Amino acid sequence: MKNLSKQELYEVKSELEAKYNRYKSLGLKLDMSRGNPCKEQLDISEPMLSVLKTGEDCIDAFGFDCRNYGILDGIPEAKALFSELMNTASTDEIIIGGNSSLNMMYDNIVRAMIFGVYGGEQPWSKCDKIKFICPVPGYDRHFKICESLGIEMISVPLLPDGPDMDMVEKLVSEDESIKGMWCVPKYSNPSGVTYSNETVLRFAKLKPKAKDFRVFWDNAYSLHDISDRRDILLNVLEEAKKYGNGDMIYKFMSTSKVSFPGAGVAAMAASKNNINFIKKIMGVQTIGSDKLNQLRHVRYFKDAEGVREQMHRHAEIIKPRFAVLIYILEKEIPDVATWSNPNGGYFVSLTVPDGCAKRVVSLMKEAGVTMTPAGSTFPYGVDPKDNNIRIAPTNPPLAELQTAAEILCVCVRLAAVEKYLSEKE
Ligand SMILES: Cc1ncc(COP(=O)(O)O)c(C=O)c1O
Repeated sequence: MKNLSKQELYEVKSELEAKYNRYKSLGLKLDMSRGNPCKEQLDISEPMLSVLKTGEDCIDAFGFDCRNYGILDGIPEAKALFSELMNTASTDEIIIGGNSSLNMMYDNIVRAMIFGVYGGEQPWSKCDKIKFICPVPGYDRHFKICESLGIEMISVPLLPDGPDMDMVEKLVSEDESIKGMWCVPKYSNPSGVTYSNETVLRFAKLKPKAKDFRVFWDNAYSLHDISDRRDILLNVLEEAKKYGNGDMIYKFMSTSKVSFPGAGVAAMAASKNNINFIKKIMGVQTIGSDKLNQLRHVRYFKDAEGVREQMHRHAEIIKPRFAVLIYILEKEIPDVATWSNPNGGYFVSLTVPDGCAKRVVSLMKEAGVTMTPAGSTFPYGVDPKDNNIRIAPTNPPLAELQTAAEILCVCVRLAAVEKYLSEKE
């Protein structure tokens, strides 16, 4: 399309505008903005709601009445389950939290600000500056945490095998104010990238100048394969231990997109040093998380295999949504955009011509389709090339998704034509 003459571009533009206006006149109200599971996915876990019916049901395997206060770091059965899911060496390396892993990440950063981290000399907040490395595009809520706490963000490109590790190694080895790094190592949000073995090993061997540097390994999509081509991720904590870096890694996961977002169970895994340090501070903050929910999860899933079986059912539900979206993108806009086709996770990352992402999202909004705001996959909400759009296809019903994807393609083409025309002015 780029090579069309000015006259041809005007003709294409008016055809696209006619199409766009037809969609606009339908008064649609569609949403492809957040990676929420759809209703069928939520329904899978419905039986979990009734596994605890009586007081007797609330007694755990060790005779503890989970209706009562106590057990700061999670009931042993939940620790065993998450230990298996997170591949930890022992259940002493796990803390079971509330429903949200994001909340655990936030708490870890705030705790580090106020008290420092295990082995650190002072609270992070005592430093003149605190910086985090942020692979981009990335998860908007990670960036918001940093922004709200005044942590400066340094963008590093996310390549097909993980963050640009040459840049990461150089940055962390030279700058003591870099205290942390965000990572979504498997089926990353939004690109769907999984870190290669080499990348994980380079993390394990990092030599940060700041002795209190921490990697926030947010493995939110560790179980979320949607294809038979499953990505495999190396266990960063065990690898880091081999190089004396065991205390550098905080791992996180939750069952938000396994059971219920908002009512799942979250967990963090880290070295015993870190866990003991954190538990001491946590013990002042809370007497413990929701043990009945932990018990519900344990009784419903039984073991890690039970969780994996459930993930197959999720995959069967969302696979057609990804397939429809990719099919429409391939049919409609192969000449103007590129996109990820991930083996798992919750997103498709769309790259439109430079300078067009905001325009596309605003055209979509006018046509009644809500997208994730352009720029939000970058620190401070600023995409320097203004070309990345995150598409979340899991939530809308299939027919709605199809319509939304078709409108998206019209908007991408229209924004591209506008750009090419303006370049010819
Ligand atoms: C990378 C990533 N981390 C964390 C979360 C939120 O997890 P939780 O529901 O456990 O707080 C999400 C949700 O979309 C996510 O994409």
